[in-house]
Amino acid sequence: MQARKSLRDIKASKEQGKKITMLTAYDASMAGLFHSCGVDILLVGDSLGMVVLGYESTVPVTMAEMLHHCSAVRRGAPDGFVVGDMPYGSYQTDTRTAVENGIRFLKEAGVDAVKLEGGVEVCETVSALGRAGVPVMGHIGLTPQTAAQSGGYTVQGKDDGSARRLLQEAKALEEAGVFAIVLECIPAGLAKVISQSLSVPTIGIGAGADCDGQVLVSHDLLGIFVRFTPRFVKKYADLAPIISQAVTDYVNEVAEGSFPAEEHSFEGQFNYTELLQK
Ligand code: KIV
Repeated sequence: MQARKSLRDIKASKEQGKKITMLTAYDASMAGLFHSCGVDILLVGDSLGMVVLGYESTVPVTMAEMLHHCSAVRRGAPDGFVVGDMPYGSYQTDTRTAVENGIRFLKEAGVDAVKLEGGVEVCETVSALGRAGVPVMGHIGLTPQTAAQSGGYTVQGKDDGSARRLLQEAKALEEAGVFAIVLECIPAGLAKVISQSLSVPTIGIGAGADCDGQVLVSHDLLGIFVRFTPRFVKKYADLAPIISQAVTDYVNEVAEGSFPAEEHSFEGQFNYTELLQK
């Protein structure tokens, strides 16, 4: 079991050229398992909305849902470095609300840090959270909470203008105090430039191999989420058919009476015939 990481350890990974691994977790069992495999950061992503709660997008996810799942992940991985995603609507209206919600993640769910999406427009919020003692991870490029406004779930920063803007946003976020930045769905060359231009680590998803770390949605990596699979995902396992087979076997065995067998049943110290007559 790995020791609990600190913010300093995460920042130091970049200086040491050690790649950071981040993976989403939404419940206690998986969190404990992922932590024991050596995952550096457990992200309770608002992807939770789609892969666990069955919403169409991340937009409907609430503070209550995020806090509920962050608490479960913390209980499952007491020594994990846990980041909670601030859901849409919890930090956009005003700085005070954002800080109050950020503090709730730390106090009520015990996370180590929060993540929020956006560039220059969230820098004041990032600074205010930092002043209040809430460490923040940034997230630029494809930002699912506002994907509808920025052209859908497509690669960002493909032309000169948008690439420059993303580089400026990354620098502004660093200046505002983020300890790391997620780069989602941007060209690998741009992610390399951004990574080289910052002192804080970048964590890529669909952003090539030159980021300082990588993140994937665990349901994608494990092949559990079957609605769609983005091109940048590598499925390390294909669990959906395995789960389907196991559940089908269970249904059939219960129906035909072969489960439970004797080894799954208990004996009692009573006279069966007498008990039946009472
Ligand atoms: O919500 C999430 O899982 C995320 C990752 C894809 C970075 O934000």
